[in-house]
Amino acid sequence: MGTFDEVYERSLADPEGFWADAAAAIHWDAPPTEVLDDSNPPFYRWYRGGRLNTCFNALDRWVDGGDGVDELRGDQLAIVHDSPVTGSVTTYTYAELRDQVARFAGVLAGLGVEQGDRVVIYMPMVPEAAVAMLACARLGAVHSVVFGGFAPHELAIRIDDARPKVVVSASCGIEGARVIEYKPLLDRALDLAGSSGPQRCVILQRPQAEASLVEGRDLSWSDAMAAAESHPCVSVEATDPLYVLYTSGTTGKPKGVVRDNGGHAVALRWSMANVYGVRPGEVFWAASDVGWVVGHSYIVYGPLLAGCTTVMYEGKPVGTPDPGAFWRVAAQHGVSVLFTAPTALRAIKKEDAAGSFLDGHDLSRLRALFLAGERTDPDTYEWACALLGIPVIDHWWQTETGWAVAANCLGIEQLPVKPGSPTKPVPGYRVEILDELGAEVPAGHDGAIAVKLPLPPGSLPTLWNDDARFVSSYLSTYEGYYLTGDGGRIDDDGYLFVMGRIDDVINVAGHRLSTGAMEEIIATHPAVAECAVIGVADELKGQMPLGLVVVKDGVDADPAELERELVALVRGEIGAVASFKRAIVVPRLPKTRSGKVLRATMRAIADGREYAVPSTIDDPAVLDEIGGALGRS
Ligand code: COA
Ligand code: AMP
Repeated sequence: MGTFDEVYERSLADPEGFWADAAAAIHWDAPPTEVLDDSNPPFYRWYRGGRLNTCFNALDRWVDGGDGVDELRGDQLAIVHDSPVTGSVTTYTYAELRDQVARFAGVLAGLGVEQGDRVVIYMPMVPEAAVAMLACARLGAVHSVVFGGFAPHELAIRIDDARPKVVVSASCGIEGARVIEYKPLLDRALDLAGSSGPQRCVILQRPQAEASLVEGRDLSWSDAMAAAESHPCVSVEATDPLYVLYTSGTTGKPKGVVRDNGGHAVALRWSMANVYGVRPGEVFWAASDVGWVVGHSYIVYGPLLAGCTTVMYEGKPVGTPDPGAFWRVAAQHGVSVLFTAPTALRAIKKEDAAGSFLDGHDLSRLRALFLAGERTDPDTYEWACALLGIPVIDHWWQTETGWAVAANCLGIEQLPVKPGSPTKPVPGYRVEILDELGAEVPAGHDGAIAVKLPLPPGSLPTLWNDDARFVSSYLSTYEGYYLTGDGGRIDDDGYLFVMGRIDDVINVAGHRLSTGAMEEIIATHPAVAECAVIGVADELKGQMPLGLVVVKDGVDADPAELERELVALVRGEIGAVASFKRAIVVPRLPKTRSGKVLRATMRAIADGREYAVPSTIDDPAVLDEIGGALGRS
């Protein structure tokens, strides 16, 4: 195959040849007529003219045979669902999973879902969530999974935008020791969504809290499955959408990232072998949630497209029941590659710094630990290396790209690690660091991280129903480049260092959240004149949101009571996952003379970092007031 540098160079010098070769690992009903359609920049499409079915590639192909299949895997485990919160382990072979998925595709078809229709999936970490996703893929329908930690308002926004025919949900999720009833949240969201809501809902009843069903609208999963017939795979265009996944932008309106079928299947299959170095038949575990892109790519699609066994874990790194949970699961199921977020390791380290909960767990099959979701801080990196004695690989990507932009590609060549760096750009991605005017900055200097177009297969072709926002959000700052929203640098050896977001997105426990969305909610409180939410450094979660609130003139609000109300408001509207726990009253917000709130400066004050007073500031005295309010003066 060649060295990493050789593979990388080829991917940029001959992208069409490179991605045509990668496409051979996928079963096509009709091969693409054009590998890269670049006739309409900045919109690029991969595998134009090709036809395939993603579910066929993920399941049927391994049961019945097809292109790219080394051996049949019908009896191999496809999914292992390990749920310490319910005390159960449930497994599905490829044949069993295919049958379940075909039957649920029959359920959806029976409810009128056809190719191109949307289905919203609002479910906890249960195998049925994966079944529902794959059933949509089977029909050529477009799924949109909404993370279970989001509140009704956020679910309603997504329903409004996606306009699903059907919503698939569950009666409850289990968060540590707490049972969270989903159905009341769903009912409230459907009220809020009004006429854009679905005609039908399918509800998985879980024994921990059964939900009451609305006559004529709601259907129980098990009743529907019992009555359904299996549905075959529907062949779709490579460029047809497979899913929409909403992600936080800088405003309260999330962005509907579109994933197509062809590019996605090729890129994920390629990444399993080349980025993660896993082979068909091995066990892969991404300890994330199906509501996030990591769950889409590496709990569901990637491992199944590669003929691996995927572990779905319904639990936490700590508390279910102890900080040895990850090691128990990895040992019990023979995991070869584990993927999690650094925050999960920090949580384990906090409770078991010595690693004594590792004792007694045979991790001899665990070859590598991959980390993403936020930067891997060198302390966490060193701790994990010393504890596990295997390669610990930081890799950087986003919902938009769908797979790694920078990584140490274990399947090609393991490069030396530089702690704090996700190593080098992955084949297919030409990453550059640009200054404000769009010029490339010299090695070692900070700037905006941008990727030269076209993006490789698998990354977003556009935003759902909004080409204009796709261009204005990502492509208009630097012509010919995709703006990642992250800042960082590339050193003399070509290693990338990602230093954090340069926009109003924050990262809380590996969860991507919009400060703008929180500000919009806080601003609805009658006592609030204006506010800013910033992400402040947090030892465990990386960042935590902090609200700085200016109270309306003449309003006599008790700061502690106001904080309680704002915390409840954000929790109720966005969800517990926002982890919004602190709101501080300040006399004024620091602004530029043109009225822009100086969030980066407030962040530096809150973190106790050195900062330069911006030359554009309207009144520097405000910074002292903020420092005082934050106890930093
Ligand atoms: N449904 C309902 N509520 C949820 C939820 C879900 N699916 N997921 C999280 N929440 C709730 C939590 O219960 C918590 O509620 P609380 O404020 O009442 O305690 C809140 O949202 C914040 O959750 P989280 O940030 O996850 O904090 P935590 O204290 O429960 O756990 C960690 C901390 C570090 C253990 C946990 O965040 C973790 O495992 N992170 C890994 C992140 C990850 O996998 N990210 C995906 C990218 S790879
Ligand atoms: P999401 O779209 O939820 O996957 O979040 C993507 C964002 O998380 C990126 O834009 C980064 O800000 C951050 N991120 C993810 N992985 C890393 C990483 N390995 N290093 C630094 N930041 C990361």
